[in-house]
Amino acid sequence: MQSTEKLNDPGHSPDESALVYWSENDQACQALWQSMHGWSAPKELLSADDTLSADRAYRLISGGTGLVWRGDFQNGKQLLAALKRRVAKQKSPDADIAYPERFHLVRQSRSQQARLLGLLLIPLAENFQLTHRRAPSVAVACQAAYSSKGLRAVSRAPNVLMPLTELIGVVSAYEWQRQGLPVAALGQHIYPRHGVFAPTRHEYLDLVVQTALPNGAQTALDVGTGTGVIAAILAKRGIPKIIATDTQAAALQCAKDNMAHLGLSAQVEVLEADLFVPGRYDLVVCNPPWLPGRAKTALDAAVYDPDSQMLAGFLGQVRAHLAPNGQAWLILSDLAEHLKLRSRQTLLALIDAGGLKVNARHDIKPRHPKSSKLDDPLADARAQEVTSLWQLTLAEKL
Ligand SMILES: C[S@@+](CC[C@H](N)C(=O)[O-])C[C@H]1O[C@@H](n2cnc3c(N)ncnc32)[C@H](O)[C@@H]1O
Repeated sequence: MQSTEKLNDPGHSPDESALVYWSENDQACQALWQSMHGWSAPKELLSADDTLSADRAYRLISGGTGLVWRGDFQNGKQLLAALKRRVAKQKSPDADIAYPERFHLVRQSRSQQARLLGLLLIPLAENFQLTHRRAPSVAVACQAAYSSKGLRAVSRAPNVLMPLTELIGVVSAYEWQRQGLPVAALGQHIYPRHGVFAPTRHEYLDLVVQTALPNGAQTALDVGTGTGVIAAILAKRGIPKIIATDTQAAALQCAKDNMAHLGLSAQVEVLEADLFVPGRYDLVVCNPPWLPGRAKTALDAAVYDPDSQMLAGFLGQVRAHLAPNGQAWLILSDLAEHLKLRSRQTLLALIDAGGLKVNARHDIKPRHPKSSKLDDPLADARAQEVTSLWQLTLAEKL
């Protein structure tokens, strides 16, 4: 193992290029640092190979040292698994701490654990080539993930250094993109992309299939379409004209590709917009991220809605986009209520302030495996979770 000769500059944002330096066999090495989580480059880097024990590696990363993996690729993955086992032994917040504090502590400790594991680093040569023994080809997966996010500097850099956990995430996201995800509610596959919310939980889609459409609905707007799955279900249910919006470039491309694949491009138009596009629609559907919370990266933004902006924006403005007999469908889990991150009263007050009334609410229990995981410190909240489709109509007057 060789130590770093130059201190690296951690002060940059995720999409900025920052060069990092270390030495290997007395040779100076440099690479472009890349972290989709927005993690800064470790101040100290050591070149590491198969001779490094998991215990020593754990001690080094615990001290903040980044390990540039040069050994056999599969051994690198095994080292990561061994580090995960050590990290998992760290104490998680006590189950007797009240919500929402317990939730914030769990989120903080998971993010620290992920940061720690993210100190096992993988160097890639030009065009995302791995030069390690027994390394798979990752170039196509990396191009798909980085080019759709406009990270051209990374796509063109001669050498890139990134957390191994992130590379594994990019590769598994590409497998989903290639193989697709069977969606029973659609009777077909949906093809997600890296950083785009994937419909792995199906129950909320069952609600979209089962809820009666407004009589004679001709137009619909799917706000925050992600992969486009809800727009596709509405199209299959026979709504002739649908617009699907999103703010993220990767989601917009993903939804367009899915519509083309499903033969629905003529029926579903995918547009970049902050929530709405002008017009009035018979049906406006929104499945916002279910938990209020900070979202530092695109990966977080699928789950966390900062300051409930999307939820409040949707409920505050949807009235102006509804046809006279139109309906707004809000899809939301009540997990945030069990975690004491948002109250039912707050939600009802937003609905009321938006000039809307609740016509009906359709509930379903999640079937996600996490809802029954006993070692999950949030298991008690998850066990109570119900996902709802709120069928909202115009209130008589504001
Ligand atoms: C939880 S995901 C839901 C995706 C999809 N509708 C589904 O149900 O699988 C929320 C989506 O809203 C998008 N989004 C967040 N803020 C938005 C905004 N202001 N306007 C439009 N889309 C937004 C995100 O990019 C993300 O794709």
